[in-house]
Amino acid sequence: MIRFEAVTFEYQTAEGPIPAVSDVDLAVGRGEFVAVVGANGSGKSTFARLCDGLLVPTRGRVVVDDLDTRDADAVWEVRARVGFVMQNPDNQIVGASVEDDAAFGPENLGLPRAEIAGRVAGALSATGLTGLERSEPHLLSEGQKQRLAIAGTLAMHPDYVVFDEATSMLDAAGREDVLAIVERLARASGTGVVLVTHRVAEAVRADRVVGLAAGRVIFDGEPAALLGDENAVSRLSLDVPASSAIAAELRTRGIDIPPGVATPEALVEALWL
Ligand SMILES: Nc1ncnc2c1ncn2[C@@H]1O[C@H](COP(=O)(O)OP(=O)(O)OP(=O)(O)O)[C@@H](O)[C@H]1O
Ligand SMILES: [Mg+2]
Repeated sequence: MIRFEAVTFEYQTAEGPIPAVSDVDLAVGRGEFVAVVGANGSGKSTFARLCDGLLVPTRGRVVVDDLDTRDADAVWEVRARVGFVMQNPDNQIVGASVEDDAAFGPENLGLPRAEIAGRVAGALSATGLTGLERSEPHLLSEGQKQRLAIAGTLAMHPDYVVFDEATSMLDAAGREDVLAIVERLARASGTGVVLVTHRVAEAVRADRVVGLAAGRVIFDGEPAALLGDENAVSRLSLDVPASSAIAAELRTRGIDIPPGVATPEALVEALWL
């Protein structure tokens, strides 16, 4: 479990402290898929970085399983347990070839050669990159690059993975590839997933959505409940697709539409069945 206990984080600047996350209490379990949404500057990235100890709380604490992220001796163990995938894969890719890149993390863990090779093969397969082992990362498409960044994280065998707007530079097909990996991670591998996104169509695929406004949690619940909460949708500046809005409205009228319906096709399918 990644547990936030009364967590406040302030950036210290020359002009004084800037609060970014205020008084957050919540937990994300293994196998849980949690989306984090909110307007620009609402504290999503700060929240994400607090999960893996990249930032540590100004007040309160973040505990990963039994490790307090403020504990300097636990830093590397926390980073190994909580993977992080950034918006821009170029900031995360370090290897001269796809396989070297995916091997970078496990090599730093000092694992035996055979174990590293097995992890790399597994991570490349999970991200659909098998066959590209010898390719140069900079020659990959944006979608492939982002999947390589994810492969590098998965090769560490993390218990949790935090994605900070990891689909925002990708086209629709690239986003769908990443979303499919995210869903498999949570549902088949039992990894805890935190997906920071500004896309409602992505957030509704999670088990649970946490909405941040000015650093505070103003919504924490199922996607369908969020879409039915006009006040929360507006405070979170969410751009709800028409099909999601219609689905939410139909639900309030007692028509059973499954959560996650966010496209006209899915809506037609749900009404048809
Ligand atoms: N390095 C920093 N120094 C000072 N203030 C910062 C820093 N990083 C973020 N902030 C401030 O902290 C608040 C939260 O920022 P954060 O980046 O966590 O929001 P966000 O929800 O990820 O935004 P975005 O949607 O633009 O990615 C904002 O007011 C922001 O200006
Ligand atoms: Mg951000």
